[in-house]
Amino acid sequence: MILKSITLKNYRNYKSQSLVFHPRFNIIHGDNAQGKTNLLEAIYVICNFRPFKQLKNEEFINFDFDSAAIKGELEAENGLNEVHITIKKDGRHTRLNGKIVYSISKYLGRFKVVLFLPSDIEIVKGGMGIRRKYLDSVISAIDAGYLKELKDYYKALSQRNFLLSSKKPVSEISFEVWNEKMAGHGATIVNKRLEIIDVFNEKLVEVYKENNESDKNVKIEYNFSYQKNEDIEKSINDALVKNFSNDKRRGHTTIGPHRDGINFEIDGVDASKFASQGQSKNLVLALKASEIKLISDLTGINPILLLDDITSELDMKRKNFLFNTLSEFAGQIFVTSTRKEEIPYRGESKSFLIKSGAAITNK
Ligand SMILES: Nc1ncnc2c1ncn2[C@@H]1O[C@H](COP(=O)(O)OP(=O)(O)OP(=O)(O)O)[C@@H](O)[C@H]1O
Ligand SMILES: [Mg+2]
Repeated sequence: MILKSITLKNYRNYKSQSLVFHPRFNIIHGDNAQGKTNLLEAIYVICNFRPFKQLKNEEFINFDFDSAAIKGELEAENGLNEVHITIKKDGRHTRLNGKIVYSISKYLGRFKVVLFLPSDIEIVKGGMGIRRKYLDSVISAIDAGYLKELKDYYKALSQRNFLLSSKKPVSEISFEVWNEKMAGHGATIVNKRLEIIDVFNEKLVEVYKENNESDKNVKIEYNFSYQKNEDIEKSINDALVKNFSNDKRRGHTTIGPHRDGINFEIDGVDASKFASQGQSKNLVLALKASEIKLISDLTGINPILLLDDITSELDMKRKNFLFNTLSEFAGQIFVTSTRKEEIPYRGESKSFLIKSGAAITNK
């Protein structure tokens, strides 16, 4: 995957900007509040057809205008693709190679991108929902059908919850269809998660060895929110039936893959509760490095890497580890930083100095 060029029109603090990127390494640098993250965000939007933060459309449109547009040329396995996105207050319109994209979710994961933000420390330290969402997003990048399963599961879950919260009397029989749907899609989701966690764990251990860290026993654990037997579909269905009265009392579904836990353990201890700041940083770094390897190995495609301002978060040792890992990675990389000289990368690259929503290109 290579993003060859991008054109921004009235996007955030950019008015009109066209950039041609290096196929390997791109450094986006400049002072604070100049538009580095905005540019990275636009790149993400081109690859994923949607932004990494759920915001109102108008926030992406330059304050002085009514609409914004981003165009990107992406080289993928199928050849050169042109993605064109217009953003108006009342909606976003996406075209892929001239054709309107009606369902964005169908294309998610087609153009692979791995994003690394300073806030990713939350994957380790934040709530369970963040870890589940993270794992689900990694699987979606690898497995084209996964997102559909998730959507179908959550649709059934919200129907079941709707019935549970109903003030009118509802018989237990009317739940059967939703229980079955949740169990069916849920089992596919859980099996996929377990499968990915196995490979993820292998990579994590590898990366930790390379990093020569003392926290050797790092691993991802999956915790079921119900009694799990051989047959996961049956386990979920049985648990939904068993929990009916409890769920009815609470007005929502209290068990299922949407409540399963994903935990990181360092030497057998839950990292979300006990990891130090340094251990958490090492773990996020290792997770991201493993994620890149996982996607490349399992799909044969090198994702585009977007690293926003992470060098400011890392000390020299961690920075060196990260850039050593990156120098082995054959894909295209975009890094933002306020200090270009702090990026320990000596290979071929292109730099873009960002000043008030405009870029000055240097070789
Ligand atoms: N819709 C918009 N229209 C105009 N300007 C905007 C819009 N959205 C954001 N901005 C401006 O963009 C600037 C922030 O850009 P960005 O977050 O890309 O900065 P940055 O270079 O990454 O800075 P830092 O180094 O602090 O992370 C802010 O000054 C903000 O006011
Ligand atoms: Mg920024």
